[in-house]
Amino acid sequence: MEREIITTKVGIVGGGPAGLMLSHLLSREGVDNVVIDNREHDVIANTHRAGILEAGSVRMLTDTGVDGRILDEGYEHSGIYLRFNGENHHIDFKKLVGQTVWLYAQNEVFVDLAAARRRDGGDVRFGVTDAEVLDHDTDTPKINFTDADGVAKQIQCEVVVGSDGSRSRTRDLIPGRVKHTMRYPFAWFGILCNAPFSSDELIYCHSDKGFALISQRSETVQRMYFQCSPDENVEDWSDERIWDHLDDIVTGPDGYQLKRGEIFDKVVLQFRSFVQEPMQHGNLFLAGDAAHTVPPTGAKGLNLAFGDVALLAPALVKWAKTGAREDLDTYGERAAKRIWKSQNFSYWMTQMLHTPAEDNPFLLKRQLGELEAVTSSEDSMKYLAESYTGWPYDLPELMEA
Ligand code: PHB
Repeated sequence: MEREIITTKVGIVGGGPAGLMLSHLLSREGVDNVVIDNREHDVIANTHRAGILEAGSVRMLTDTGVDGRILDEGYEHSGIYLRFNGENHHIDFKKLVGQTVWLYAQNEVFVDLAAARRRDGGDVRFGVTDAEVLDHDTDTPKINFTDADGVAKQIQCEVVVGSDGSRSRTRDLIPGRVKHTMRYPFAWFGILCNAPFSSDELIYCHSDKGFALISQRSETVQRMYFQCSPDENVEDWSDERIWDHLDDIVTGPDGYQLKRGEIFDKVVLQFRSFVQEPMQHGNLFLAGDAAHTVPPTGAKGLNLAFGDVALLAPALVKWAKTGAREDLDTYGERAAKRIWKSQNFSYWMTQMLHTPAEDNPFLLKRQLGELEAVTSSEDSMKYLAESYTGWPYDLPELMEA
């Protein structure tokens, strides 16, 4: 079949936040790239994800000229509450480590990045089909695909980046890979509702009736989650049953009550911990969820994807400008440090806060001991604060506006 040829330096498979941020940073440095994604723009834009951005992720958006919308529409939070035995314990990030996080829906980050690529003339093609990466272990990799108008095309490039998310197919192209996987016996039931704030900052709540997270989106829309079974059916949950269950989880001697409202979205989020190693084969590099997923408890998913990009983008720019490959060839090894720190943090938060599957009171008591230990020691709270707000990025010249 005759394919229309597109020539570029870096072919990026996957136009979610990782792929678009990479494309944005490369283009700022004059490194030609093309992004394809088999999903439609609006499908990605409407896929609800977690809502917390590390300060470093926010700086990647604002200091590289993506958009300042996050600063107008997001909310800066300087801490969270850990709630157990029915009482709140404040973890003051600002006081402990001098950092904050931002509440801003991660699908809005995608919307901002896609708009910035359009504004800057980026080549991003959504809704493609039959994408296939070829010859990635040679110096002339190719990506075949059919565009949204049904025209068969081929990207001829020098490097392929697989940023095609948690259902990645590019990761299957890495021979000898190891898939480190951890499954959990529970999931999250997430709701969006029309209601005022129930708290000034997020509440991560431990209870003997399961975990709950009281999050937010805006003055009028709130996001909340509670622990459920992985095969929970949303149809079984009326609004009233949801509110009663959430109230049961958060109830305590302080008399805390949630502000109820109409629920307009209900979803069950599966979770697992996953890392694929290595992240490179020849001229194919993985970034973001394609290489790793975390349970949502620490809100690390998108932040960790940006962590990969913060290493991969400068390495690609250096290689494109000078031909030097050493930063590229050590990318996976360097990224693994942050990835495993985040895996550990997300796993730690998850096991500390969720009701274990095994019905043994020892396990709940032990968790309460751990929560007590964490919230009564400034050093322990510092670990939580440092991990939650995120370890610093080293993004040299690419950050200069
Ligand atoms: C959210 O608001 O969706 C959210 C916030 C914090 C998390 C997970 C999800 O840890």
